[in-house]
Amino acid sequence: MVPKLSLITDQTSSVASSRPFADAMSALASGVAVVTCELDGRPWGMTVTAFASVSADPPTVLVSIDSDATAADALAASGRFGVSILAEDQLAVARHGAAPGKSKFLEAFVDPDHTDDASPMVAGALAHLDCEVERTIRVADHTVFFARVRAAHATHFGMPLVYHSRDYRTLGAPAGRRPPTEGRTTCLAT
Ligand SMILES: Cc1cc2nc3c(=O)[nH]c(=O)nc-3n(C[C@H](O)[C@H](O)[C@H](O)COP(=O)(O)O)c2cc1C
Repeated sequence: MVPKLSLITDQTSSVASSRPFADAMSALASGVAVVTCELDGRPWGMTVTAFASVSADPPTVLVSIDSDATAADALAASGRFGVSILAEDQLAVARHGAAPGKSKFLEAFVDPDHTDDASPMVAGALAHLDCEVERTIRVADHTVFFARVRAAHATHFGMPLVYHSRDYRTLGAPAGRRPPTEGRTTCLAT
């Protein structure tokens, strides 16, 4: 049976309407990234999933940030930010950067010797992009930062950290592939 959709209207209060929206969006699996910048001369970063590639030529990305979050002011003030795409073993930095109202300075998680980027990079991340803000647009309660990618590198091989159904996860086997045990015979006794 097809489930009934919850109608979200302008008349519905945002709190009442946000639940079906949030439930629906929780079905979308996303990679997890930390958006970084310098704040008071120190490496700082917040965990995001609302990060996407917009254009390849010129390379452009967007990140959508709650306008009330510290990150919105920090990114706007700096005009530059980094994006570190997290590996599956980087749950600690993901949680650190997602704790509401808590300090998000990143000294414990960045490579102190890393100097070739303007923006701080989370050590051990799968990839890092260094971005320059081109345009910001306020949409509802978020600010969307469109940014030109000035430098990008995939730094580590490995599997990504994933966020799905309100939890951090790791990826399973590639879709369509047989599970490793399928088709195998196991010899229990000779
Ligand atoms: C997995 C995950 C992804 C998140 N993605 C975003 C995002 O894309 N944009 C955003 O504004 N907040 C996002 N958040 C929420 C912020 O990380 C969180 O509100 C942050 O701690 C606010 O920081 P502040 O209280 O220091 O301003 C995400 C949280 C989690 C757990």
